[in-house]
Amino acid sequence: MKIAVIGGTGVYNPEVMQDAQEKKVSTPYGNVSFLHGQYKDKEVYFLARHGSKHSLPPHKINYRANIWALKGEGIEKIISTAAVGSMNIDMKPGSVVLIDQFIDFTRQRPITFFDGEHNEVVHTDFTEPYCPQLKEIIAEAGKNYKFDITNKGTYVCSEGPRFETSAEIKMFRSLGADLAGMTNVPEVVLARELGFCYATICFVTNYAAGISEDILTHEEVLEMMGNNIADIRSLIMDAVVLIQGKTTCHCQNKPGRIIVDK
Ligand code: HPA
Repeated sequence: MKIAVIGGTGVYNPEVMQDAQEKKVSTPYGNVSFLHGQYKDKEVYFLARHGSKHSLPPHKINYRANIWALKGEGIEKIISTAAVGSMNIDMKPGSVVLIDQFIDFTRQRPITFFDGEHNEVVHTDFTEPYCPQLKEIIAEAGKNYKFDITNKGTYVCSEGPRFETSAEIKMFRSLGADLAGMTNVPEVVLARELGFCYATICFVTNYAAGISEDILTHEEVLEMMGNNIADIRSLIMDAVVLIQGKTTCHCQNKPGRIIVDK
Protein backbone atom coordinates (compact mmCIF):
# COMPACT_ATOMS: atom_id res chain seq x y z
CA MET A 1 0.00 0.00 0.00
CA LYS A 2 1.54 3.28 -1.15
CA ILE A 3 0.40 6.51 0.44
CA ALA A 4 1.33 10.08 -0.38
CA VAL A 5 1.31 13.08 1.90
CA ILE A 6 1.09 16.48 0.25
CA GLY A 7 2.30 19.05 2.73
CA GLY A 8 0.92 22.57 2.49
CA THR A 9 2.03 25.80 4.16
CA GLY A 10 4.19 25.05 7.21
CA VAL A 11 4.51 21.33 6.43
CA TYR A 12 7.67 21.16 4.34
CA ASN A 13 9.14 17.84 5.39
CA PRO A 14 7.85 14.70 7.08
CA GLU A 15 10.95 14.21 9.32
CA VAL A 16 9.78 10.89 10.72
CA MET A 17 10.05 8.91 7.45
CA GLN A 18 12.72 6.19 7.38
CA ASP A 19 15.25 5.99 4.51
CA ALA A 20 13.76 9.05 2.82
CA GLN A 21 15.28 9.54 -0.64
CA GLU A 22 14.59 12.34 -3.04
CA LYS A 23 13.09 11.18 -6.32
CA LYS A 24 12.62 13.23 -9.48
CA VAL A 25 10.20 12.22 -12.20
CA SER A 26 9.10 13.80 -15.44
CA THR A 27 5.45 13.90 -16.48
CA PRO A 28 3.62 15.21 -19.58
CA TYR A 29 2.96 18.33 -17.50
CA GLY A 30 6.46 18.99 -16.15
CA ASN A 31 8.98 17.66 -13.65
CA VAL A 32 8.23 16.83 -10.03
CA SER A 33 10.41 15.96 -7.08
CA PHE A 34 9.31 14.31 -3.87
CA LEU A 35 10.60 12.16 -1.04
CA HIS A 36 10.10 8.42 -0.95
CA GLY A 37 10.62 6.33 2.17
CA GLN A 38 9.02 4.04 4.73
CA TYR A 39 6.97 4.56 7.83
CA LYS A 40 6.24 1.45 9.90
CA ASP A 41 4.96 -1.06 7.32
CA LYS A 42 3.92 1.54 4.75
CA GLU A 43 5.62 2.96 1.69
CA VAL A 44 5.21 6.72 2.00
CA TYR A 45 5.77 9.59 -0.42
CA PHE A 46 6.00 13.20 0.63
CA LEU A 47 5.54 16.16 -1.67
CA ALA A 48 5.87 19.77 -0.49
CA ARG A 49 3.19 21.61 -2.45
CA HIS A 50 4.86 25.03 -2.29
CA GLY A 51 8.37 23.57 -2.62
CA SER A 52 10.57 22.92 0.39
CA LYS A 53 11.20 26.66 0.87
CA HIS A 54 7.69 27.94 0.10
CA SER A 55 8.87 29.41 -3.19
CA LEU A 56 5.77 28.54 -5.28
CA PRO A 57 2.65 30.70 -4.87
CA PRO A 58 -0.71 28.89 -5.07
CA HIS A 59 -1.47 29.87 -8.68
CA LYS A 60 1.94 28.67 -9.92
CA ILE A 61 1.93 25.22 -8.37
CA ASN A 62 2.02 22.54 -11.06
CA TYR A 63 -0.92 20.60 -9.66
CA ARG A 64 -1.32 18.39 -12.73
CA ALA A 65 2.33 17.32 -12.73
CA ASN A 66 2.21 16.61 -8.98
CA ILE A 67 -0.88 14.42 -9.13
CA TRP A 68 0.23 12.70 -12.34
CA ALA A 69 3.62 11.89 -10.80
CA LEU A 70 2.00 10.34 -7.72
CA LYS A 71 -0.23 8.19 -9.93
CA GLY A 72 2.83 7.00 -11.84
CA GLU A 73 4.30 5.70 -8.55
CA GLY A 74 1.28 3.45 -7.99
CA ILE A 75 0.02 5.45 -5.03
CA GLU A 76 -3.64 4.95 -4.11
CA LYS A 77 -4.28 7.38 -1.28
CA ILE A 78 -3.33 10.98 -0.63
CA ILE A 79 -3.52 12.82 2.67
CA SER A 80 -2.94 16.53 2.16
CA THR A 81 -2.63 19.40 4.58
CA ALA A 82 -3.80 23.00 4.22
CA ALA A 83 -3.50 26.09 6.36
CA VAL A 84 -6.85 27.86 6.27
CA GLY A 85 -8.62 30.96 7.54
CA SER A 86 -11.97 30.42 9.25
CA MET A 87 -15.19 32.36 8.65
CA ASN A 88 -17.14 30.12 10.99
CA ILE A 89 -16.67 31.20 14.60
CA ASP A 90 -17.15 27.59 15.72
CA MET A 91 -14.03 26.57 13.75
CA LYS A 92 -11.45 28.30 15.86
CA PRO A 93 -7.77 28.94 15.17
CA GLY A 94 -5.87 25.90 16.37
CA SER A 95 -8.60 23.46 15.34
CA VAL A 96 -8.66 20.89 12.55
CA VAL A 97 -11.38 20.48 9.96
CA LEU A 98 -11.70 17.47 7.67
CA ILE A 99 -13.50 19.25 4.87
CA ASP A 100 -16.25 17.48 2.95
CA GLN A 101 -17.06 20.10 0.30
CA PHE A 102 -15.42 22.87 -1.67
CA ILE A 103 -16.50 25.96 -3.60
CA ASP A 104 -14.17 27.00 -6.41
CA PHE A 105 -13.27 30.67 -6.78
CA THR A 106 -9.98 30.11 -8.60
CA ARG A 107 -9.48 31.88 -11.91
CA GLN A 108 -6.40 30.99 -13.88
CA ARG A 109 -5.24 27.45 -13.20
CA PRO A 110 -5.37 24.34 -15.36
CA ILE A 111 -8.27 22.64 -13.60
CA THR A 112 -8.55 19.21 -15.21
CA PHE A 113 -6.78 16.33 -16.94
CA PHE A 114 -9.84 15.99 -19.19
CA ASP A 115 -9.22 19.08 -21.26
CA GLY A 116 -10.04 17.58 -24.65
CA GLU A 117 -6.43 18.17 -25.61
CA HIS A 118 -4.28 15.72 -23.69
CA ASN A 119 -7.25 13.53 -22.84
CA GLU A 120 -10.89 13.10 -23.81
CA VAL A 121 -13.62 15.34 -22.38
CA VAL A 122 -15.15 13.85 -19.22
CA HIS A 123 -17.56 15.40 -16.74
CA THR A 124 -16.65 13.91 -13.38
CA ASP A 125 -19.10 13.47 -10.52
CA PHE A 126 -18.14 15.65 -7.56
CA THR A 127 -21.07 15.12 -5.23
CA GLU A 128 -18.62 13.86 -2.60
CA PRO A 129 -15.16 15.25 -3.44
CA TYR A 130 -13.23 13.86 -0.46
CA CYS A 131 -12.86 10.17 0.44
CA PRO A 132 -15.22 9.48 3.37
CA GLN A 133 -13.21 6.47 4.54
CA LEU A 134 -9.89 8.29 4.54
CA LYS A 135 -11.55 11.10 6.50
CA GLU A 136 -12.82 8.58 9.05
CA ILE A 137 -9.32 7.17 9.47
CA ILE A 138 -7.86 10.63 10.05
CA ALA A 139 -10.64 11.43 12.53
CA GLU A 140 -9.89 8.20 14.38
CA ALA A 141 -6.17 9.04 14.54
CA GLY A 142 -7.06 12.55 15.67
CA LYS A 143 -8.79 11.30 18.83
CA ASN A 144 -5.39 11.09 20.50
CA TYR A 145 -4.60 14.76 19.96
CA LYS A 146 -5.56 17.98 21.67
CA PHE A 147 -7.03 19.45 18.47
CA ASP A 148 -10.76 20.04 18.15
CA ILE A 149 -11.58 18.07 15.02
CA THR A 150 -14.68 18.76 12.92
CA ASN A 151 -15.59 16.16 10.33
CA LYS A 152 -17.44 18.45 7.97
CA GLY A 153 -16.78 21.83 6.47
CA THR A 154 -16.94 23.74 3.21
CA TYR A 155 -13.67 25.12 1.88
CA VAL A 156 -13.68 28.02 -0.53
CA CYS A 157 -10.63 28.20 -2.75
CA SER A 158 -9.61 31.71 -3.71
CA GLU A 159 -6.97 32.51 -6.29
CA GLY A 160 -4.44 34.21 -4.01
CA PRO A 161 -1.67 34.86 -3.41
CA ARG A 162 -3.31 37.79 -1.63
CA PHE A 163 -5.68 37.10 1.24
CA GLU A 164 -9.38 37.85 0.72
CA THR A 165 -11.11 41.18 1.30
CA SER A 166 -13.63 41.30 4.12
CA ALA A 167 -16.39 41.73 1.50
CA GLU A 168 -15.28 38.53 -0.22
CA ILE A 169 -15.33 36.66 3.07
CA LYS A 170 -18.82 38.01 3.79
CA MET A 171 -19.96 36.75 0.38
CA PHE A 172 -18.29 33.33 0.86
CA ARG A 173 -19.94 33.02 4.27
CA SER A 174 -23.34 33.81 2.78
CA LEU A 175 -22.71 31.04 0.22
CA GLY A 176 -22.22 28.53 3.03
CA ALA A 177 -18.44 28.37 3.20
CA ASP A 178 -16.60 27.80 6.48
CA LEU A 179 -12.93 28.05 5.54
CA ALA A 180 -10.78 29.90 3.03
CA GLY A 181 -7.61 28.65 1.42
CA MET A 182 -5.78 28.93 -1.89
CA THR A 183 -4.68 25.45 -2.98
CA ASN A 184 -7.24 22.69 -2.52
CA VAL A 185 -8.65 23.36 -5.99
CA PRO A 186 -7.60 21.98 -8.39
CA GLU A 187 -5.62 19.47 -6.29
CA VAL A 188 -8.66 17.55 -5.07
CA VAL A 189 -10.22 17.69 -8.54
CA LEU A 190 -7.19 16.19 -10.26
CA ALA A 191 -6.84 13.54 -7.55
CA ARG A 192 -10.44 12.48 -8.05
CA GLU A 193 -10.07 12.45 -11.83
CA LEU A 194 -7.26 9.91 -11.49
CA GLY A 195 -9.18 7.76 -8.99
CA PHE A 196 -7.24 8.55 -5.79
CA CYS A 197 -8.72 8.43 -2.31
CA TYR A 198 -7.97 12.00 -1.22
CA ALA A 199 -8.64 13.88 2.03
CA THR A 200 -7.36 17.16 3.43
CA ILE A 201 -6.46 18.01 7.00
CA CYS A 202 -7.28 21.71 7.23
CA PHE A 203 -5.52 23.42 10.09
CA VAL A 204 -7.18 26.71 11.05
CA THR A 205 -4.43 29.30 11.48
CA ASN A 206 -6.56 32.45 11.72
CA TYR A 207 -10.02 33.94 11.46
CA ALA A 208 -10.52 35.14 7.87
CA ALA A 209 -10.54 38.80 6.82
CA GLY A 210 -13.19 40.82 8.60
CA ILE A 211 -14.14 37.99 10.98
CA SER A 212 -11.35 39.20 13.23
CA GLU A 213 -10.50 42.88 13.19
CA ASP A 214 -6.78 42.18 12.98
CA ILE A 215 -5.00 42.40 9.65
CA LEU A 216 -3.66 39.15 8.30
CA THR A 217 -0.04 38.21 7.63
CA HIS A 218 1.67 35.15 6.19
CA GLU A 219 4.02 35.26 9.21
CA GLU A 220 1.14 34.71 11.61
CA VAL A 221 -0.05 31.75 9.51
CA LEU A 222 3.48 30.28 9.61
CA GLU A 223 3.80 30.91 13.33
CA MET A 224 0.54 29.12 14.06
CA MET A 225 1.59 26.18 11.89
CA GLY A 226 5.05 26.17 13.48
CA ASN A 227 3.59 26.01 16.98
CA ASN A 228 1.61 22.91 16.08
CA ILE A 229 3.79 21.18 13.51
CA ALA A 230 4.93 18.32 15.75
CA ASP A 231 1.34 17.27 16.46
CA ILE A 232 0.21 17.80 12.88
CA ARG A 233 3.03 15.61 11.57
CA SER A 234 2.39 12.92 14.10
CA LEU A 235 -1.37 12.96 13.41
CA ILE A 236 -0.69 12.47 9.69
CA MET A 237 1.66 9.56 10.33
CA ASP A 238 -0.76 7.92 12.79
CA ALA A 239 -3.42 8.13 10.09
CA VAL A 240 -0.99 6.59 7.57
CA VAL A 241 -0.48 3.64 9.92
CA LEU A 242 -4.24 3.12 10.30
CA ILE A 243 -4.85 2.89 6.55
CA GLN A 244 -5.72 -0.63 5.46
CA GLY A 245 -5.72 -2.10 1.97
CA LYS A 246 -9.42 -2.78 1.59
CA THR A 247 -11.88 0.04 1.02
CA THR A 248 -15.49 0.19 -0.08
CA CYS A 249 -15.46 3.82 -1.17
CA HIS A 250 -16.09 4.79 -4.77
CA CYS A 251 -12.99 6.92 -5.29
CA GLN A 252 -11.29 4.38 -7.54
CA ASN A 253 -14.17 4.25 -10.01
CA LYS A 254 -12.41 6.21 -12.66
CA PRO A 255 -14.60 8.70 -14.42
CA GLY A 256 -12.89 8.48 -17.81
CA ARG A 257 -10.03 7.14 -19.83
CA ILE A 258 -6.63 8.71 -19.38
CA ILE A 259 -4.76 8.53 -22.65
CA VAL A 260 -1.84 10.90 -22.25
CA ASP A 261 1.31 9.11 -23.30
CA LYS A 262 3.65 11.91 -24.26
N1 HPA B 1 -7.32 32.94 3.50
C1 HPA B 1 -6.78 32.18 2.51
N2 HPA B 1 -5.81 31.30 2.72
C2 HPA B 1 -5.35 31.15 3.98
C3 HPA B 1 -5.87 31.92 5.05
C4 HPA B 1 -6.90 32.84 4.79
O1 HPA B 1 -7.41 33.55 5.70
N3 HPA B 1 -5.18 31.54 6.17
C5 HPA B 1 -4.30 30.57 5.77
N4 HPA B 1 -4.40 30.35 4.45
